[in-house]
Amino acid sequence: MAQIIDGKALARTIREEVKRGVQSLTSPPRLIAIQVGHDDASASYTRSQARTAEKLGITYHLETLPAETSLDDLDRAMKELAKADDVAGLMLQAPLPPHLDAVACRRLIPLDLDVEAVTEAAAGRLFHGTHRVAPCTAVAALECLRAGAGGDVTGLHVAIFGRSAIVGKPLALLLLQANASPTILHTRTREPARIAASADAVVVAVGRPRLVGADMVGEGAVVIDVGTNWDTTANRLVGDVRFDEVEPKAAAITPVPGGVGPVTTAVLMRNLLTLARLRER
Ligand SMILES: NC(=O)c1ccc[n+]([C@@H]2O[C@H](COP(=O)([O-])OP(=O)(O)OC[C@H]3O[C@@H](n4cnc5c(N)ncnc54)[C@H](OP(=O)(O)O)[C@@H]3O)[C@@H](O)[C@H]2O)c1
Repeated sequence: MAQIIDGKALARTIREEVKRGVQSLTSPPRLIAIQVGHDDASASYTRSQARTAEKLGITYHLETLPAETSLDDLDRAMKELAKADDVAGLMLQAPLPPHLDAVACRRLIPLDLDVEAVTEAAAGRLFHGTHRVAPCTAVAALECLRAGAGGDVTGLHVAIFGRSAIVGKPLALLLLQANASPTILHTRTREPARIAASADAVVVAVGRPRLVGADMVGEGAVVIDVGTNWDTTANRLVGDVRFDEVEPKAAAITPVPGGVGPVTTAVLMRNLLTLARLRER
């Protein structure tokens, strides 16, 4: 039977560390989330972020802008919001309305407030290993992987399903820095199942419910499921991994829910603390 990697417990440990860190600051830091237009999933996510922030002594402000907001409007709004002395982090909630280019919008975030590390400048720092914070979900996946691999990922071959800018690509860079050997698999990869089955660990971030089955995972591998998909038939959250068939083969595996998700929010708060400390220097 596999070790079930307890994301809630990992998140709790990170939150406790953040709470102590926030108490040691001279004043409470502010985290600003900007939502352009309305999205139900994002609204629920921001509510959960606000609750977590509040418990840790972080001031959370959600700024909702109309769906027709232009890039210039967004730029003005961001500059205004970033003026307050206590602002330590600023983030843009996904999804953005289709008329807005996500990369151009993220470029407006000042680097020293880029709490999710989503700007091109932050990606450049991650590439060179000079980053202060890294994309939250990628960090959360790595934390879970470490927990499942006995604390160290040195020398591990890690197959990553997905090459997005928020998970797959930054995770590959983080793994290289941690002396692991990542392989990224995507829709054009030949024989992804064979490659994944030969890896010591498999991280899945594709957004396809139950895509990865037992044939894509090696005996004794660590399996990290980043996927969060709403199953309308079962009326519950499901991952990208077929947990029931993969778990008996794996050494350790994250559940969905209760795996990478809670760790991601805790990492967001830890990133905020890091930026707040840098501002206080
Ligand atoms: N737990 C959390 O905190 C958290 C946070 C963020 C995201 N997520 C979840 O993570 C999942 C991925 O999110 P994302 O934003 O990274 O997704 P994304 O931007 O849509 O990227 C999906 C990636 O998966 C690849 N892919 C799709 N089908 C594949 C297949 N059959 N075989 C191999 N690769 C395949 C795509 O390949 P191509 O590039 O070739 O198209 C793409 O690179 C979603 O379920 C999302 O909800 C969870």
